[in-house]
This record gives sequence, structure tokens and C-alpha cells, in this order.
Amino acid sequence: MSESSRLRELHQLTSPYKSLHDTYVSNKQEKCPVPALVATGCLIVMGVLLAIVVIEKLRHGRELNERLTPDITSMICNETWPSEQSSIVLVESFPEAVHYGINISTSQNLFHVWKDLLSSAKKRIDVASFYWSLTDEDIAVHSSSDRPVNVSVRVVTSIPTLASNSSDLDILEKHGVEVRRVNFGHLTRGILHSKFWIIDDKHIYIGSANMDWRALTQVRELGAVIFNSSALASDLLKVFQSYWVMSKSGAAFPEPWPREFETNINEQQPLNIQLDGEQSQVYLTASPPVFCPASRTRDLDAILSAISGAQEFIHISVMEFYPAFKFFGLRGFWPELEDALKQSAFNRNVSVCLLVSCGRESDPSVWPFLRSLDALHSPSNKLNIDLKLFIIPVGNQSHVPYTRVNHSKFMVTDKVAYVGTSNWSADYFNTTAGVGLVVSHDALRPNSFHQRLRDVFLRDWDSKFAVSLSELKPEHDCAFAKL
Ligand SMILES: *[C@@H]1O[C@H](CO)[C@@H](O)[C@H](O)[C@H]1NC(C)=O
Ligand SMILES: *[C@@H]1O[C@H](CO)[C@@H](O)[C@H](O)[C@H]1NC(C)=O
Ligand SMILES: *[C@@H]1O[C@H](CO)[C@@H](O)[C@H](O)[C@H]1NC(C)=O
Ligand SMILES: *[C@@H]1O[C@H](CO)[C@@H](O)[C@H](O)[C@H]1NC(C)=O
Ligand SMILES: *[C@@H]1O[C@H](CO)[C@@H](O)[C@H](O)[C@H]1NC(C)=O
Ligand SMILES: *[C@@H]1O[C@H](CO)[C@@H](O)[C@H](O)[C@H]1NC(C)=O
Ligand SMILES: *[C@@H]1O[C@H](CO)[C@@H](O)[C@H](O)[C@H]1NC(C)=O
Ligand SMILES: *[C@@H]1O[C@H](CO)[C@@H](O)[C@H](O)[C@H]1NC(C)=O
Ligand SMILES: *[C@@H]1O[C@H](CO)[C@@H](O)[C@H](O)[C@H]1NC(C)=O
Ligand SMILES: *[C@@H]1O[C@H](CO)[C@@H](O)[C@H](O)[C@H]1NC(C)=O
Repeated sequence: MSESSRLRELHQLTSPYKSLHDTYVSNKQEKCPVPALVATGCLIVMGVLLAIVVIEKLRHGRELNERLTPDITSMICNETWPSEQSSIVLVESFPEAVHYGINISTSQNLFHVWKDLLSSAKKRIDVASFYWSLTDEDIAVHSSSDRPVNVSVRVVTSIPTLASNSSDLDILEKHGVEVRRVNFGHLTRGILHSKFWIIDDKHIYIGSANMDWRALTQVRELGAVIFNSSALASDLLKVFQSYWVMSKSGAAFPEPWPREFETNINEQQPLNIQLDGEQSQVYLTASPPVFCPASRTRDLDAILSAISGAQEFIHISVMEFYPAFKFFGLRGFWPELEDALKQSAFNRNVSVCLLVSCGRESDPSVWPFLRSLDALHSPSNKLNIDLKLFIIPVGNQSHVPYTRVNHSKFMVTDKVAYVGTSNWSADYFNTTAGVGLVVSHDALRPNSFHQRLRDVFLRDWDSKFAVSLSELKPEHDCAFAKL
């Protein structure tokens, strides 16, 4: 693709894509504004990245990048993994000035974990990201250390993007990062919405946070980091690699996906590993379906099966819950998730708690659907569906648009913990690239990942930020309140 047509693509952020946004806003005026601490945070992430990016590009021949790298391929074929001490950490970030009034010990701070992950890299960092907006060109970014290491960094990102003016990627490219833009607009009429990192083919991060300074300070995000699992890292690398190969201009979907993209870790055959010493089953999911080889569990299928497998409770925290298509003429009702929840509630007396974010930019068209779900709260009729809005006070940050929302997407049932990157609406599972992490344990122990995720949900559910529809007052700064 020529540079000018690429630029045209980048600026083709026409109205359907605009509403497919996350929490982005141009940082032309805002830059890394507000408190000095914030700015420092953004720059440190970029700085650490720049510090580790060295001329490694030379060593990694271009042609290798078209395929899985040989060492990984042989490991995948052997499918034998060194025994490792794997561990899993729940990471969160909170908007400034959001205080729960309790000490939060279930999760670690997203920014610190990101920074440590990057600094620990010795060989390779692969990042799948929607867009980058950690800095802007007139902010001087300096490497934050002089550590001369050979780390190769690859980044895949989306066309269309929301940050067409951000210079982050140019800065990184100048420093030797290999950046590829995947034209999801053209391929699936969607976006690359996945957010994950693979460090040294060993550690992975999956979560809701974009590579955006707002993610660190203005938005509530949730994710998970798994340390020391080459098996999961190599599995996630296959997803990364599927984006990488599809970034070539004119790339067409392979039919079927070649063998090296197939996985033997999925819902039917999860990876059995010890996480923090606990016997656990883990697998990764992906969307959209056209990016999934036959053996890869689709994100939507994993969610549906977690819902139908629950016997006691289903706790869901999502940014958006919308049972319809919105974009590209695929209009229409899409009741799959809603039906699954109603069936679990009604047929099996499962208690469903749905926490949906509500911010100034929330789309009012979800409102009638949420009210209809809320109306199903009727325990005496065996309908235990509870709905609350998660509202983050805008406080004195009202000059920063598209922020102050709960961006996290996770679910915990009595059986599994699920952490994902997608809104719960039709387009996300149909056209948009996302990934999910599904974890369950042999035994439910107090400090297990599953239990920590449940604690996080209950903390949120019982907090002053979670408001039931009947309590919603006009003074709550939430778009719905205006209706
Ligand atoms: C996903 O969530 C964002 C943030 O609320 C919202 O702006 C966007 O419209 C949602 N996407 C879809 C497809 O509903
Ligand atoms: C990008 O920059 C151009 C020209 O400066 C401006 O017109 C446009 O609004 C900017 N786009 C975004 C998303 O900030
Ligand atoms: C994979 O198996 C081949 C042949 O048995 C062996 O040479 C190679 O070292 C193995 N690779 C790994 C990473 O174990
Ligand atoms: C939070 O932890 C700190 C240090 O452990 C302690 O001093 C403080 O009292 C705790 N606050 C609450 C609200 O529990
Ligand atoms: C980095 O890689 C190059 C080429 O492989 C090598 O010559 C150099 O010694 C390496 N540097 C470090 C610090 O490992
Ligand atoms: C990863 O494994 C190494 C040993 O192989 C161990 O030293 C390290 O502490 C482990 N990291 C984590 C985060 O568990
Ligand atoms: C349904 O589940 C609730 C607990 O969530 C329980 O109190 C109630 O007895 C159950 N009802 C039936 C009919 O099983
Ligand atoms: C915003 O409010 C917080 C406390 O609520 C305060 O620490 C901060 O200085 C305020 N920022 C501005 C720009 O007023
Ligand atoms: C989206 O859904 C439509 C209708 O089910 C289907 O025809 C289309 O192939 C799907 N698109 C993708 C990218 O999966
Ligand atoms: C985000 O949502 C969770 C529920 O998942 C809630 O507990 C938390 O308080 C919210 N965070 C913010 C900052 O709004």
C-alpha cells in the first residue's frame, strides 16, 4: 500500500468507526497533561521501551517475521515444555481520585507491572495494541536507562486507528521497533482491539488497557499477567503471528489457517499448569472467527459456555452490554448473550449480577435493553438477575474526554474466571480482533486467581460507584441520567 493511501486509511475514521471507539481522544491539547506524576508514568513506559530497543532488527531477518520463528516452531511441534514456576497476577488501574475507602490487596498496579515486565525483557517483546497514545512529539522522551541489551520489539496495531496523529509509533520505529499495521477495516470491517504483550516467549499480559496514558490514570482497567509459562506464551504468539502475517498489503485469509497457527490448548483441552502452586486449567480465546483456526476456541463460545456451565452465580463486569449489531448495515437484534444469561437464571436458578459501565460518552441506545434486563429481577419468580451501573465520578478531570469510565471486561462464575478485551456487543465478536483468558482451578482456595477476581467484582459491586437503575439520580454524571 502506498504511503498516501495508508494515510487515507488512517484518516478514514468515518462515523461507524468513531462509535467503535474505546476511550480515545486526541492528545493534541491534553498531551500528558494533568499531574506531573501522570506525565512521568506515560513517559516511563515509552522510555523503558526505547531503552530496550536496540539494533536487534538486523539480527532478526525480515523473512523470519513472515513465519513463526524457527525456535518457536520447533517448540510448538514438540509441545513439550520445561517445567516452570508459573504464577498469575491480577492487575488494575484506577482513575485518579477514585477511592474505595478500603485497601486494595487483591490486585497489583497496572503501571508498575507493565514497567517491570518491560524492564525484565531480555530477548523479545511482542505487543498487540489498538492504538498508541502515550506521548506526543513535542514531549521529549528519553531512554530511562542505558542498559545495552538485545531485545527485539514488534508491535501490531490497527487500521483504522483512533490516534492517527499520535507520534508514538514513529518514535518507536525510529528506535528500531518493528511496527505493522493490520487493516482490519478492509479485512473484516472491524478493528484490532486486542491488547496483549508477550515477553521473552515466556510471560504474557492480557487486559483491557490500551497503550494510552489515560489507561494508567483516567480509566479503570483490569488485566492479568502470567509469568513463566512458555506454553501460553507460544500459544498467544500464534495469535500475534496471525495479525503479523495479515498486515501485508493484499493479504487474504488462508483457507484453512496453516498448521503452525493451530493450537492444542483450547476449551476442550485446556493447559494443565500449576499457577502459584495451584493446579489450574487455562486457555486463550480469540475473535473474530475468521482469525481463528479450527482448533482455537472463539471468544464468544468461551463466554457462552462459561455462562451455561455456571451453577451458582455469574458475575459480569463490562464496559458495554448491547444485544445488537450497530455497524456496517449488520443491524439487527443479537440476543445470544442475553438469552444465555436468562436461561441460566431461569432454568438453573443461577444468580446473575451484571455491572455495566456508564460514562458521559456511553451510548444511550443501550438503555432500553438494560432496563428490560433490570426488569427481570424477580427472585420469587426464580429470576435472579441484578443489574447495576458502574459510574466513575468525573471530578475535576472533566476536561479530559473519553475517560473516567470503567473499561474492564471480565466475568467470574462459580467455575471459571474470564478476562477479556471486548465489549459485549455483536460487532466485537464478529468483526473485531480480541483475546480472552479463561482460568479455572481444581480447588477453590482463598487466594486463587479465581477468588481474587471474585473479590474484585464484589468490591466493585458493593462500592459507592455501583448504582442500581432505580437509584440513578440526575446528578450522577452519566449520559443515561439525561434520559
Ligand atoms: C465499546 O465501548 C466503548 C466505550 O464505552 C463505546 O464507546 C463503544 O461504542 C463500544 N463499542 C460497541 C461496539 O458497542
Ligand atoms: C489530526 O491532525 C489534523 C491536522 O492537524 C486535525 O485536523 C485532526 O483533527 C487531527 N485528528 C485527530 C483525531 O486528532
Ligand atoms: C524439538 O524436538 C527436536 C527433535 O526431537 C529437538 O531436536 C529439539 O531440540 C526440540 N526442541 C525443543 C525446544 O525442545
Ligand atoms: C491500609 O493499609 C495501611 C498500611 O497497611 C494502613 O495503615 C491503613 O490503615 C489501611 N487502611 C484501611 C482503610 O484499611
Ligand atoms: C547484540 O547482538 C549483536 C549481534 O548479534 C552482538 O554482536 C552483540 O554483542 C549483542 N549485544 C549484547 C549486549 O548482547
Ligand atoms: C520464574 O521462574 C524463575 C525460575 O525459573 C523464578 O526465579 C522466578 O521467580 C519466576 N518468576 C515468577 C514471577 O514467578
Ligand atoms: C435459588 O437460589 C437461591 C440462592 O441464590 C436460593 O436461596 C433459592 O432457594 C433457590 N431457589 C430454588 C427454587 O432453588
Ligand atoms: C483534582 O482533585 C484532586 C483531589 O480530588 C486534587 O488532588 C487535584 O489537585 C485536583 N486537580 C486539579 C487540576 O484541580
Ligand atoms: C459476521 O456475521 C455475519 C452474519 O452472521 C457473517 O456473514 C460474517 O461472515 C461475519 N463476519 C466475520 C468477520 O466473521
Ligand atoms: C469499575 O467496575 C468495577 C466493577 O467491575 C467497580 O468495582 C469499580 O469500582 C469500577 N472502577 C471504577 C474506577 O469505576
